[in-house]
Amino acid sequence: MNDEGLLTIKNVTKRFGPLVAVDNISLEIKKNEVVGLIGANGAGKTTFFNIITGHYPPTEGAVIYKGQDITRLSPAERVEMGIVRTFQLTATFNELSVLDNLRLSYFKSHRKSGLSNIIFSKMKNIDDDEIYEYLEKFNLSHLAHKKTGSISLGERRVLEIAMALIYNPQILMLDEPFAGLSEKEIDEVLEILYQNVGQRTIFIVEHKVSKIEGLVQDICVMVEGEMICAGECQTVLKSDIVRERYWKMDAKEMAKIKA
Ligand SMILES: Nc1ncnc2c1ncn2[C@@H]1O[C@H](COP(=O)(O)OP(=O)(O)OP(=O)(O)O)[C@@H](O)[C@H]1O
Ligand SMILES: [Mg+2]
Repeated sequence: MNDEGLLTIKNVTKRFGPLVAVDNISLEIKKNEVVGLIGANGAGKTTFFNIITGHYPPTEGAVIYKGQDITRLSPAERVEMGIVRTFQLTATFNELSVLDNLRLSYFKSHRKSGLSNIIFSKMKNIDDDEIYEYLEKFNLSHLAHKKTGSISLGERRVLEIAMALIYNPQILMLDEPFAGLSEKEIDEVLEILYQNVGQRTIFIVEHKVSKIEGLVQDICVMVEGEMICAGECQTVLKSDIVRERYWKMDAKEMAKIKA
C-alpha cells in the first residue's frame, strides 16, 4: 500500500427509513493527515463517523482501509487495525478510577481480546509504569485514584483521548471533543492534539470551524447528509458552495466579499 489512500470512503450512503443521513459520500484520507469535519446539527457527521468505525453498516458503499475492504468488520476489529475513536458523549467507565480506566484500555490494546470479567481479573498483573507515564503525560496524575464520574468534563475528555491514544492508533477520530468545555480546557485538548500531528491521522468533528482552523490541513463540510466540499481548509471555507450552503450567505453578501 502507498501512503496516499490510508482510508478511502467510496460512495457511502446511510438511510434511516426515509431519511438519508449520509448521502453518497466519497472521501480519501491520507496517512498523518489532519482533517476536520464541520456541519450543522443533524448534518450527518456522527453517522458518517459511525460508518467508518463500524458502529453502523452503510446502506450502500464501501470503506477501504490500507487497501482492504473493511465495510463489514466490527468496531473491535477496526480498533485492532488502528482505527480508534472518541465519542460525542464521553464514553469512560465512570464508576472506575481514572487509573483503572487507563489500565483497561492498556490491557485491551495489548491483549486485543477478552470479556470484561477476564480483563478485570487480569488487570492486577499489568505493569503500571507505562500507565503512570501516561497519567503524567496527560496531566492526570493527581486524579489517578478519583472516580472518573467525579472529575470535570474537561478532565474526562482528556482521559478519553488518553484511553484512545494508548492504542497507538493510525487513525484517531474525535467526535466534538470540545463540546461543553471552557476555553482553557479546549486549549488543553488542542495541545494534546497538536502533539500528535505527524504521528497519526486525525479526523475531527467540530461545530465551530474557528476552533480547528489552525489544527487541520483539510476540511470537509456536510450539509443535510451531503458532503458539499472537501479539501484544503482555507480554499474550502472560501468556496462559493460553502458560503452559500453552510454559511447561508445570499448572493449580495457573497458579491460584497468578492468586491
Ligand atoms: N440511529 C438512528 N436512527 C434514526 N435516525 C438517526 C439515527 N442516528 C442519526 N439519525 C438521524 O440522522 C441525521 C444525522 O444525525 P447525526 O447524529 O449523524 O448528525 P450530526 O451531524 O452528528 O449532528 P450533531 O451536530 O447534532 O451531533 C439526524 O437527522 C438524526 O436524527
Ligand atoms: Mg454528532
